[in-house]
Amino acid sequence: MLAIVPQSSQRPRGVRKCVESAGMDHTSGNYCCGIDIGGSGVKGAIVDMDTGEFATDRIKIATPQPATPEAVAETVAEIVRQLEWDGPVGICLPSVVKEQVAMTAANIDDAWIGTDVHELFSEHVPGRDIAVLNDADAAGLAEVAFGDEICRTGAVMFLTFGTGIGSALLMDGDLFPNTELGHMFVGKKEAEHQASSAVRDREELSYSQWAKRVDKVLTEYARLFNPIAFVVGGGISRKADKWVPLLTVDTPVIPAKLRNRAGIVGAAMAVWKHVAP
Ligand code: BGC
Repeated sequence: MLAIVPQSSQRPRGVRKCVESAGMDHTSGNYCCGIDIGGSGVKGAIVDMDTGEFATDRIKIATPQPATPEAVAETVAEIVRQLEWDGPVGICLPSVVKEQVAMTAANIDDAWIGTDVHELFSEHVPGRDIAVLNDADAAGLAEVAFGDEICRTGAVMFLTFGTGIGSALLMDGDLFPNTELGHMFVGKKEAEHQASSAVRDREELSYSQWAKRVDKVLTEYARLFNPIAFVVGGGISRKADKWVPLLTVDTPVIPAKLRNRAGIVGAAMAVWKHVAP
């Protein structure tokens, strides 16, 4: 089971300035910076690792276009500068990350494929611990540590609905990383090409129209993976009351607790606990 075990009681250099400028007194806590790279925005904050709360405001900068590794890494460096942070940085992105090499690129530039992301970010944000992982995996880890108890109990599928559909498979809170279930074919199309939240926006679907598509995807996942529950995150989980009750799938569907904070918190956890794949 994954729990936050503080590695040291020392506060990384740089946090005092951040938390003081945020008007908080977290001087005895433990902090890391988390950065979540998305198709439209790069978001970061300093995270209190004891509580999973942000110790600073969240900074968001539009994802540069094209979203090449160099351009995005420079945006990450800018966020770290704005946070006045010189401690560890965890980063998550919509890519399979194996041994710190990006293996795929969805909603970011193809140039990411084959990039040693650890090396890339270490060049742009030098002289500190860096860890990189998939964005849905990061969000899943954050829910395990700070979200609903169900995420630490048995076989659970955590899913994010955003530009794509991200997945994190959890067993008693342990992560099986880099499952890309948004790309699984459900009927004739990939799941995320019919039921992501971006598709809902693009096709101007009502919640009930969109929920039917989500239902179809979840029913297929349930048939093949048989989880005890789905936990659903991403921006649209804020509106969970509008669509979760419309689902008919025969497996409980529970809205995530951390919502769109989860990626940043999970990225910070990855560098804190050294759990990046
Ligand atoms: C990507 C995943 C990512 C998900 C959510 C998918 O298109 O392939 O790696 O986790 O979108 O961003």
